Amino acid sequence: MIPFSEVKTQYQNLKQEMQQAFNEVFEASWFILGKNVEEFEREFAVYCAANHGIGVGSGTEAIHLALLACGVEPGDEVITVANTAVPTISAISFAQATPVFVDIDPGSYTMNPELIEQKITPRTKVILPVHLYGQAADMEPILAIARKHNLRVVEDACQAHGAEYQNKKVGALGDLGCFSFYPSKNLGAYGDGGLVTTNNAELADRVWMLRNYGQRKRYFHDIKGFNSRLDELQAAFLRKKLKHLDAWNERRRRIARIYDENLTNAIVKPIEKAFAYHIYHLYVIRCQQREELQKFLTENGIQTLVHYPVPVHQQMAYQDLNIGDGALPITEHYASEILSLPIYPELDDDDVMFVASKINEFYG
Ligand SMILES: Cc1ncc(COP(=O)(O)O)c(C=O)c1O
Repeated sequence: MIPFSEVKTQYQNLKQEMQQAFNEVFEASWFILGKNVEEFEREFAVYCAANHGIGVGSGTEAIHLALLACGVEPGDEVITVANTAVPTISAISFAQATPVFVDIDPGSYTMNPELIEQKITPRTKVILPVHLYGQAADMEPILAIARKHNLRVVEDACQAHGAEYQNKKVGALGDLGCFSFYPSKNLGAYGDGGLVTTNNAELADRVWMLRNYGQRKRYFHDIKGFNSRLDELQAAFLRKKLKHLDAWNERRRRIARIYDENLTNAIVKPIEKAFAYHIYHLYVIRCQQREELQKFLTENGIQTLVHYPVPVHQQMAYQDLNIGDGALPITEHYASEILSLPIYPELDDDDVMFVASKINEFYG
């Protein structure tokens, strides 16, 4: 059986390091906003070449607080994509803002910059590109449009720890970068966790207060805030794991190359854009007869998933946006053809070859 994703082997490889981290936190018995959070914030910010890192409760919360830090108010509009994990949009809803969708670029599956300007209105506050599947969105034109219209850019980097755009790590390209440490991410915790990166001290300060009841100083609340904190235990685990991230990303890239080289041309393989260093959080193909292929792979012990089968504007929860079918043709078309294959550092070459051979066999 080849599972779609697997975190146990990684834990077994890291057992000593994780137990050491666990023991250190319990010996110190300081669980919220302590030395490990502070150090991890600093280390992850350095990793992304950002001036500031602020640990928060999840990736969704990272986006929510980043939007509030940008001054997003109820009724404001946030331009983003519908081909994303729903939490991107949940965060916009938390901020009581309205998501405005643009279609994706057919080659990279990320925000098509050419479609942004026509969606800008006086209510637009933020452009929120998603570095989907581990590949950076095309940031240069997005940043240029934001500058021209005086908008903020919040990067959803929840699937892109260590991904690069023009040799720069994502997370510090726009005004704020948002990361998730959901366990199966390229850098995953053992529970929920998130982090916001930024080069802007004022925005950092606002996120820093927002995550901790709006306090600047204990019991003195400058703004209305939340409880959204990365905890010490997760930060201690993440500090150990961060040291392995580059090697894990390289291994994912190697697996992607094996798929690229061995998969039949009957399916469409992912493209690494010239501007990108893709870290393959997901390896997503496009294929005909997806349901049949998925069933065939399941019968052969290969688990696959679809990211994502229903674009956000077609989800029941978002029918109030009144965006009809056909509004986002590429997004809608791809939703019926995309399929994510197993990819994680611990997957061995033979298993990757087995997956490729079974797909090739299906298409005869
Ligand atoms: C693109 C994207 N955005 C946002 C999130 C939300 O992150 P979290 O699950 O940590 O809240 C995720 C992960 O699930 C994601 O993949």
